[in-house]
Amino acid sequence: MTESNTASHRPVPFPITNPARIPAKRYYDEDFFQMEVDHLWPHVWQLACRLEQIPKIGDWIEYANLGKSVIIVRTRDGVKAYRNACRHRGVPIAGGDGNGHGNCAATGFICPFHGWRWNMDGKNTFVYSRQMFGEDQLDPDDIALRPCRVEFWGGCAFVNFDDDAPPLRDCLGPIADRLEKYGVDRLRAEWCYATVLPANWKVAMEAFMEGFHTARTHPQLQKSAPAVFHALYGQNTQGIGVPVNVNATPRENIQDQFRLMELLSEGMAGMCHAKDLETARGLLDVDLPEDPAEAVMAWYGMLNAEVTRQGRARGEATPDFNALMATEPLKGVEFLFPHYFLLPYLSSFSAYRVRPLSPTSCLFELWSLTQFPEGEEPEPIMEAIMLPHDSVEFPPIPRQDYANIPIQQIGLASDGFEFMRLAKDVEGLISNYQQVIDGFLKGAPADRLAAATASLGGNFDGPIRNVDV
Ligand code: FES
Ligand SMILES: [Fe+2]
Repeated sequence: MTESNTASHRPVPFPITNPARIPAKRYYDEDFFQMEVDHLWPHVWQLACRLEQIPKIGDWIEYANLGKSVIIVRTRDGVKAYRNACRHRGVPIAGGDGNGHGNCAATGFICPFHGWRWNMDGKNTFVYSRQMFGEDQLDPDDIALRPCRVEFWGGCAFVNFDDDAPPLRDCLGPIADRLEKYGVDRLRAEWCYATVLPANWKVAMEAFMEGFHTARTHPQLQKSAPAVFHALYGQNTQGIGVPVNVNATPRENIQDQFRLMELLSEGMAGMCHAKDLETARGLLDVDLPEDPAEAVMAWYGMLNAEVTRQGRARGEATPDFNALMATEPLKGVEFLFPHYFLLPYLSSFSAYRVRPLSPTSCLFELWSLTQFPEGEEPEPIMEAIMLPHDSVEFPPIPRQDYANIPIQQIGLASDGFEFMRLAKDVEGLISNYQQVIDGFLKGAPADRLAAATASLGGNFDGPIRNVDV
């Protein structure tokens, strides 16, 4: 039995007892936050970097979260990760501000305090004034850099501070396989923005766990294609295929769908990439069946085929979207517990990562990702462009989401607001996530936690479940 098994009755403050009700204090209580710092974050797989950021031998990049810093470095034997603390007196050996990156092939890592050195394999290569130390302080194994677990998926390195945690793939679950089929591991970043949101990290994540907020938060999307959103949220008729306005002509339906793509694309390349938009524009005048539903289905079939054909013609490794969508459909947003999520749309993805800074603030990054022909990839994005959360430079859709998140945080702390009440059919992922968090906080067995996190995949807009942790 592992330590976490024996500790499985640790009391959780403000636990989820009714899965449709989420206690508000989970979003600002200091003790609850500290429980997450102590019992959640040290045991989960955290997205540390994109592998394209460390393409050459010796390239390194720092990942920091909640006071823990790790250096991820590409060595001759593959990518490794080290705790970023000098074995002499603890100074970060590289970076240190959370955004460090560089190449250590020529020099190794040199501690800025007294100059101890390590090679990229973590072996100590130099101790300044060695004779001044007792030899028992300089055991080579003991002064080697402390490794950190690192595993890989989707073009990214993930780290875990728990040497006993189940492997990354066991925690990601089947959604990882599905996303791979869509080419997630071949994506490259076109840009990356970041902001500090004055909100608990879960408030920020949960703002994207349902599309139910679209009508009010993103009214331009709703207005452009009311039938789409009525079909999705008006009557709980999920899973009906592509929504259709039966009172409109086939051509009007297609124009609705195209307008929606345009709005998604506005300033937000990965949410609907300009290249896919142009492909769609080229199909606006195609012959369509007379029945609106058949017309919309036929048009999307043509769009999928054409995006595949044109992507391959450009030299991109584009999947066969028609075949894939029939057998391996994805949701509009796909979450990887605890802090990374992807918004797939044909050739491209948006991707979001959230890191807690305090009970009521978090760092929120967003990437636009797409495929490039081999050899034509852009320079890697090494640092996010930091903007205020209300910056007009953010694309319209995230800006609209960012407008709600800080005020929700204020409302959650109102006197008399005890719990959020969730829509059982479409806000379930929020509850399911929170139940898994409780599993970590109470110290549930690691294999149960892995199975529970794996079960969260594909649950955007999904129902509340009783999660077995
Ligand atoms: S703290 Fe690093 S060499 Fe002294
Ligand atoms: Fe939104």
